[in-house]
Amino acid sequence: MRKILLAGNWKMHGSKAMVSALLEGLLAAPRRETPDMVVFPPFPYLAQAQSLLAGSPIAWGAQTLSPEAQGAHTGEVSASMLLDLGCRYVLVGHSERRTLYGENDADVAARYAAALAAGLEPILCVGETLQEREEERTEAVVERQLEAVLDRCGVEGFERGAVAYEPVWAIGTGRTATPDQAQAVHAFIRGKVAYRNDIIAGQLRILYGGSVNGSNAADLFAREDIDGGLVGGASLKAEDFLAIRDAVT
Ligand code: 13P
Repeated sequence: MRKILLAGNWKMHGSKAMVSALLEGLLAAPRRETPDMVVFPPFPYLAQAQSLLAGSPIAWGAQTLSPEAQGAHTGEVSASMLLDLGCRYVLVGHSERRTLYGENDADVAARYAAALAAGLEPILCVGETLQEREEERTEAVVERQLEAVLDRCGVEGFERGAVAYEPVWAIGTGRTATPDQAQAVHAFIRGKVAYRNDIIAGQLRILYGGSVNGSNAADLFAREDIDGGLVGGASLKAEDFLAIRDAVT
C-alpha cells in the first residue's frame, strides 16, 4: 500500500517569524494517524526548519538543487548541502523552474540524478499548460518530461523518488483538476513506469498539485492513483495545511 504524502511547497514566501509560527502550528496539532508530511521552505529557512522539526514526524526539503556537486557555481546549492541541513526530499523541475528559469528536460533530469546520487528523495514535477491541454497534448508533454528522467536514471530512479503531477493551469489559480482529470494522468504516468517495471510502478507515489485545499483533497486523494498532494498556497498557514491532513485521515 502506498502511504499518502502531503507536501507543502512554500515557494518564495516566508520570514523567520512566519516559519516559526507555521511549523509550531503544525507541531502543535499531532494526530495518531497521519499521512507522511514534508515542508519545502526557501533555502534560507532550512536550518530553522531543521532545528524546529528534528525528531518530529514532519520532514523538510528544498525546492530545487544544483546538478553540480560543488565548485564555482555562484548562487547555487548542492545536494550535499541539503543533506547537511537534514533534508530528506527535494523538488525537481517545478513548472515555475521550467518556465521562469529556463530549466529544460535535460536540466531537470540532471538535477534528479544529482539528488538520487546524494541519497535525497527527489520529487519530479510534471504537467501541461492550458494550451497544451486544449491541444490534447497532455499525455505527450507529461510523457516527454517523465521519459527524460527515466532515460537518464533508469526506472530504478523511481524506487526512491516520487512524481508530482501539477497541471500548470491549476497552479495558484483556484482551478483544480477534477479527480477524474487528475486520475487519468496519474494512471498514465504509472502505466509508463510500469511498462519498464511493474513493481516500482506499484510502489511509486504520484502526488497531485494545483489548488489543493481542505475541501477538495479528500475527493482527489481517494482516487486509485493519487497518492497525496503537492500544495502551494494552502501550505502557508498551519490551519489550512492541517485541514488537508485532517480531510484525508
Ligand atoms: P497552489 O496549491 O498554490 O496551486 O500551488 C501548487 C504548486 O505549485 C505546488 O508546487
